[in-house]
This record gives sequence, C-alpha cells and structure tokens, in this order.
Amino acid sequence: MSLIELKDVSKLYGFGDATSVALDEVSLSIEKGECVAVMGPSGSGKSTLMNMIGLLDHPTHGDYLLAGKRVSRLSANRRARIRRDKIGFIFQSFNLLGRLTALENVALPLLYKGLPTSKRNSAARAMLERVGMHDRCYYYPRQLSGGQTQSVAIARALVNDPELIIADEPTGNLDTESSRLVMELLSEIHKAGNTVIFVTHNPELTRYATRVVYMQDGAVKYDEQTKLGEVGSYARNAMYKIPETTEEDDLAGVSVLMKVRPSETESPKKAPAKKPAKRTTRKKKRKAAA
Ligand SMILES: Nc1ncnc2c1ncn2[C@@H]1O[C@H](COP(=O)(O)OP(=O)(O)O)[C@@H](O)[C@H]1O
Ligand SMILES: [Mg+2]
Repeated sequence: MSLIELKDVSKLYGFGDATSVALDEVSLSIEKGECVAVMGPSGSGKSTLMNMIGLLDHPTHGDYLLAGKRVSRLSANRRARIRRDKIGFIFQSFNLLGRLTALENVALPLLYKGLPTSKRNSAARAMLERVGMHDRCYYYPRQLSGGQTQSVAIARALVNDPELIIADEPTGNLDTESSRLVMELLSEIHKAGNTVIFVTHNPELTRYATRVVYMQDGAVKYDEQTKLGEVGSYARNAMYKIPETTEEDDLAGVSVLMKVRPSETESPKKAPAKKPAKRTTRKKKRKAAA
C-alpha cells in the first residue's frame, strides 16, 4: 500500500469561461520513505499538488488515498485533524507568527493537541536543538536570518513527529548556504525514515531526492527515480539549464576577490562589491549574445 495515492485528481478554479485547470487528472503514488523533489515552471500546479497532498485543499474530481484511507471527500474538520497528526508543512515564506518567540512558534502545534505548557516547551526546545537553534529559543522571527527562520519553521513542522513532510519551495527565499543547511535538515528527516516532498526550482537540490517529479500545465510530465547525491537527469538535460561558469566568469570572480580583499582587512563591516561586479559582466554577455 502506498502512503500517497492520487487517482485522476483534478483541481479547477473559477467556472465557465474563466475556469482554470490547476491540476489535470494527476495520478501519482508515493511510497513511505521516499524523498520526492517536485519541479516545473511556475503556474504548473506544484503548490496546488502540495496543498492537495497535504490536505489543505480537496480535489474537484478524482480520489486521494492517504495510507489507504480515502481522504478526498472528508470535511474540513477531519482534514485538519489528519494534518495535525500526520503532516508537517514548510513554506517559502516561513509563516512564523511574528509576535511569538521561536520557542512559542515551535510549541504552537502542540497546543492544538492539548498538551500542557511544560510538555509543549520541552518538546519545542528539543526540536530547536535538533535543528541547531537551541540558542535562539527566545528570539523573535524578525531577529533571525532567513536560514535561521526556516530552521525554526522546520522545527515547528517536526514537533508533532509527522510521517509526511511537505515543503513548498523551502529554499525559495534563501541564499546558497542557508539553502544547503535547510536541505541537509530535510535530508536528515528523510534518512530518519520519514517521507519528504519538496518543491524546488534548483536542479542542484534534486541531489537530496530519491525521485523527481516534473509538472507542466497541471500534469506530471516526467517522473524519475534518482540516486541520492545525483542531480536528476531530466533536470540536468532537458528542462533546466544549470548555469555553467565560463572562464570569463572565473576571471571576473578572481578580480573581484582581489579588489575586495584589501578593504575587507581594513574594515570588515564594508560589504564586498562582489555581486554588482558579476552582474555587470553577465549583462554585458547577454547584450553581446543578443
Ligand atoms: N486560488 C486560486 N484561484 C484561482 N486560480 C488559482 C488558485 N490557485 C492556483 N491557481 C491557478 O492554478 C495554476 C497552478 O498554480 P500553482 O499550483 O500555484 O502553480 P505553481 O506552484 O507550480 O507555481 C495557476 O494557473 C494558478 O493561476
Ligand atoms: Mg507554487
């Protein structure tokens, strides 16, 4: 029995001439323990699919079996209960409550379970420790960097010990280093035996996946098993171009480094002029290509 089984699932928005088909008869099975990367252009239905799998939404047509149980026609209340007990969500925009500390944010899902304060707090603290954020328990979201905020959001998603983790572009707002950190965390969760589904635009991040599903126009266009540590072949070859660095880029990078180094030693506070310099060279190249 698959953990997730979608059968001809469609999601339509609007009606009449204004109907848009967000999902178009998607059939998809995901086994327990898989780590699935979902890719595809924006508007291709990735978020709709995540919301469907995560029971935040229900199909217009078709069936959804979660752990063998038909969940496509459940009331909003029953769906909420299953979400609470089985599913952890991570979003691109973090969705932490700004007026609560990191600890309170992480403890929040347990409030809905009716646990007493002391138990909630000790579980939340343990989870923050697991994501390396134990020294930020009393920080508010605005006092944290993007990567730290997402780590707290991951702790919140995990505090209920969900068997399914759904992450919709979890690294969409993060720099490369924070993205790596967040993906390493998700990867640990996967390796601990959980099922993880994440949306990404970055082919490199398919290295963390055991399977890559490509969406287009609300349908699954391509579906491949991949080895952990390897980029999906479809991601590499067909759909996405991983930008290659040319010798010119490398030279530009080196000269930027040289320029930056002295001022860095003088005053480490000054931001290195790395990015603008690179951008100019890229722009020039694009102009030259046009
Ligand atoms: N609440 C909504 N109302 C109307 N159309 C929607 C809604 N949500 C999504 N859509 C449409 O469904 C399609 C798929 O959207 P989405 O799942 O967000 O794509 P993705 O996450 O791949 O960018 C898009 O054409 C989008 O405009
Ligand atoms: Mg989306």
